[in-house]
Amino acid sequence: MRSPADLITTDIELALERLRAGGLVAIPTETVYGLAADAERSEAVSRIFAIKGRPTSHPLIVHVADQDHLDGWVESISDHARALAEVCWPGPLTMVLPRGRRVLDDVTGGRASVGVRVPSHPSTLELLTRFGGGVAAPSANRFGKVSPTTAQHVLDDLGALLDPLRDVILDGGACPVGVESTIIDLTVTPPQLLRAGAITADDVARILEIAIDKATGQSRASGMLASHYAPECSVLLVDDIARATEVLDQRSADGQRVRILDRTNDLVVAARELYNDLREADRAGLGALIVVMPPAAGIGYALRDRLTKAAAGG
Ligand code: TXA
Ligand code: MG
Repeated sequence: MRSPADLITTDIELALERLRAGGLVAIPTETVYGLAADAERSEAVSRIFAIKGRPTSHPLIVHVADQDHLDGWVESISDHARALAEVCWPGPLTMVLPRGRRVLDDVTGGRASVGVRVPSHPSTLELLTRFGGGVAAPSANRFGKVSPTTAQHVLDDLGALLDPLRDVILDGGACPVGVESTIIDLTVTPPQLLRAGAITADDVARILEIAIDKATGQSRASGMLASHYAPECSVLLVDDIARATEVLDQRSADGQRVRILDRTNDLVVAARELYNDLREADRAGLGALIVVMPPAAGIGYALRDRLTKAAAGG
């Protein structure tokens, strides 16, 4: 008998076989784990939406091995796109570009654009290089829930929904960045930041030597909702540790199990640990997690965005 735990492997050859056979492969990336399918197989792409419980109108990102593999996935590569690819890929940047002939409507929800990215993770880059095509992959979590940053997280969330005979979770260790890629829409002028990530709008502006239309903290990628990335427990956002302590005292006096999360001293670690921290709050059976908001600087923008959405979850 095969059990869900059998899904986890480090065997890239097996992952490749599954991908080629139309199965799903959870892939490690530097940001979060993705749930990948051959982007040109409609039936496999449909299973991604079904397993995630995600509305089919929410477009998926196509991942390729390098910028030379973009042929057919995007209609054309502008100078801006080329410049960003040169500096940022492989890495945590997704570019929205006019879609190419290989892109199925199932992947983009019928949009005229497609999100493309080259992730930076040795196992996944090897998989993509050997595969040769594009893989469509959203984060490997149930829709609206906390993203996975380890293979175990994927197993916890999707183990019962994946098929050990068809699918596999490629274990590449813990994701070093910890929050999803920056999304920049290059189909509009000026380019627009749709989702904050480790690469900031200022980084993009510096590389392109132009002004970028920055989101004001909230992600605007199509299909993004106010509530997302949400654990079961309440997330309470506060501005500083003094306020966190007050809230802790109040809630504890009311008999609630609460804890403070303050990683404002190191935002890179805060990002790497964010989703594990949210999951840990649920494992500990907390009623509420009191989070000290990181400052709006660098990866702090991405953290504030994800935390705001996690807090909107209830
Ligand atoms: O770091 C990441 O980007 C991870 C890893 C696995 O690569 N992927 C990821 O995918 O976060 P997902 O599906 O969870 O989030 C992708 C976001 C969605 O909000 C989607 O609406 C947006 O990207 N998106 C994708 N294609 C788009 C398009 N053509 N136009 C606008 N937004 C798009
Ligand atoms: Mg996601």
